[in-house]
Amino acid sequence: MTVPKLALSDNTGEALAKTRADVVVIGTVAGEDGPVLAPGAAAVDAAFDGRLAGLLATLGASGKAEEVVKVPTLGKLPAGVVLAVGLGKAGDALTPEQVRRAAGAAGRALAGTDRALVTLSEIDLQAAVEGTVLGSYVFTEYRSEKGDAPLAKADFASPAEGTAREHKATLKAAGTIAEAVLVARDLINTPPNDLYPASFADRAKKLAEDNGLEFEVLDEKALKRKGFGGILGVGGGSSRPPRLLRLAHKPAKAAKKVALVGKGITFDSGGISLKPAANMDHMTSDMSGAAGVLAAVVLAAKLKYPLEVVAHIPLAENLPSGTSYRPGDVLTMYGGKTVEVLNTDAEGRLVLVDAMVRAAEENPDYLIETSTLTGAQLVALGNRTAGVMGSDDFRDRVAAIMQATGENGWAMPLPEELRADLDSRLADLANVTGHRWGGMLAAGIFLREFVADGLDWVHIDIAGPSFNTGAPWGYTGKGGTGVPVRSIAAILADIAANG
Ligand code: BES
Ligand code: MN
Ligand code: ZN
Repeated sequence: MTVPKLALSDNTGEALAKTRADVVVIGTVAGEDGPVLAPGAAAVDAAFDGRLAGLLATLGASGKAEEVVKVPTLGKLPAGVVLAVGLGKAGDALTPEQVRRAAGAAGRALAGTDRALVTLSEIDLQAAVEGTVLGSYVFTEYRSEKGDAPLAKADFASPAEGTAREHKATLKAAGTIAEAVLVARDLINTPPNDLYPASFADRAKKLAEDNGLEFEVLDEKALKRKGFGGILGVGGGSSRPPRLLRLAHKPAKAAKKVALVGKGITFDSGGISLKPAANMDHMTSDMSGAAGVLAAVVLAAKLKYPLEVVAHIPLAENLPSGTSYRPGDVLTMYGGKTVEVLNTDAEGRLVLVDAMVRAAEENPDYLIETSTLTGAQLVALGNRTAGVMGSDDFRDRVAAIMQATGENGWAMPLPEELRADLDSRLADLANVTGHRWGGMLAAGIFLREFVADGLDWVHIDIAGPSFNTGAPWGYTGKGGTGVPVRSIAAILADIAANG
């Protein structure tokens, strides 16, 4: 991963004359009769004798979201090009997400540029930084021809409000948060022949060491000794055995303890209940939850959150073979509950509850679990809205935070009547209901069976939002998106501030 080198500059007016940037990025808003220049663009407009909006309109610009128009400056400015990016219509105010998406679209269009001066930061510094970094990301690890290099340096014009000290702190936090998202994206985008339980564990160990986190890995022998029947069952069909990771950020003063759990199926073929061939390759992303919580715990250490944050990451590869678990098997999960497997493709919940029960042993104040758990999430909410389930108050709090970060979680219920559909002929519980209705919710109800009463917990189903199979949009490229890393960061910050 390459992250652009980030720096704070003066406000646009001061910065313009002396900038060494090749491109100046300005925002445009969609007005009634064409593009209207956004805050931050005034000084650039002055260099064009106040005729920039008219010039952009002549070029066909409207200010609609993510529109990109480049204008040569012909010596009017030290920078050779002005890049005008659309923010869309402004309501009462421009939202952070409008700024983030516009900065992301600009970031994508700046591939091949060495240095840019971004003026969108005069509207919202954090959103401009996040959008620029996330939008400029490309994953070219496996290409012989790398194409245009991503933007190398980004300078951000200082907003009018606040002190330079505050702006520097915002820049650093936003840059660190965006980089954490890219850590998750890199892991998700790495193909399953290179990213499997043991290699994921190696990468996590390196990150833990570099950032002063406690690190522990249980291999298949340790998992067997301790009774992690879910992880061992799911991982049994692969020649590459499963793992369970624990990474802990333990500051001297911690107000609260937060446990994170992320689904780490490094490839999900469905197992003996084999998936159809079409799009099975997307299941390279079935470890997005694991990537997300790994990035989040590293971030907690980098930003020194005054919280204890412990990530638990179950890793397994779900493959069919002579050693696979089968439909009809009964697994004894960590903690002793038994589960009858009726479908080996409902594997995520099996590895997750082993890790959730272990996480709860440390008595956290909050348990945040995230996973690419069900295709039903996509049916219910589409590919850009995560399903948020769990204990009522915490669920609503998390959904509201996800709305604010632009990661768009939506609160969903756990209807009581679905519980009986998980009854098993043999065991304490079956892993599927035997019907399709409310599949996302049924998975949530399965997880709830393993959560102690009274623990504040949330389950975030990111099956759709974690992986972009379509065209790039906003600050989201193709492939791994890094959802819900920014939301976990915001939840942790909220818990640190409000308990
Ligand atoms: N990893 C899948 C869920 C998934 C589907 C994620 C599409 C991303 C995109 C999960 O393990 C799975 O296969 N779930 C089954 C559950 C079913 C058997 C009850 C599903 O959704 O079909
Ligand atoms: Mn599956
Ligand atoms: Zn899966």
